[in-house]
Amino acid sequence: MNTPPTLFSEEEIASQVTVLATEIDEAYADADLLVLIGVLKGSFIFLADLARKLTIPHRVEFIAVSSYGTRESETADSVRLLMDVRHPVVGEHVLLVEDIVDTGHTLAYLKRLLGARNPASLKTCTLLHKPDRTEEEVELDFLGFTIPDVWVVGYGLDYAERYRTLPYIGELPPEMR
Ligand code: PRP
Repeated sequence: MNTPPTLFSEEEIASQVTVLATEIDEAYADADLLVLIGVLKGSFIFLADLARKLTIPHRVEFIAVSSYGTRESETADSVRLLMDVRHPVVGEHVLLVEDIVDTGHTLAYLKRLLGARNPASLKTCTLLHKPDRTEEEVELDFLGFTIPDVWVVGYGLDYAERYRTLPYIGELPPEMR
């Protein structure tokens, strides 16, 4: 299998994940417990690395969503809940963890969904952000890298379920799609 050219190497990712973990440790230093909610599937590798670098007490949860229709026809109403978290988050400090924010619809939907459950706080962390694609603004409290509008794969991100377990983040050229 051809491998896509590197956008961020394993070393660059590891160092940025360490920076994010330090920022999160500091932001929640006074909290009893932080609930990390990984958005499946893309966030599973980032969340695993991030969680293991945190020193504050934390619990890991997962949530799964999907989009109706094609990416091009997405609207704010097009996100659907596939799998909910296992515990209520009322009164808890919640951090949503994403691999990438593209249009913003997924994270905006999840903020509305979880915000309605009265958590003590609700913030967002994403490894990657593509501001050129924004359709719905969402506050990104912890951000790894801002990227241009290119197709990225690896470190959890896929193209038709391929490349998810590449150890680095690559830019997939049109001829490899
Ligand atoms: C990706 C990514 C985010 C979402 C961001 O998931 O993991 O959840 O898209 O896009 P948005 O900002 O335009 O809403 P995807 O739908 O590819 O599913 P996957 O994580 O299961 O691969």
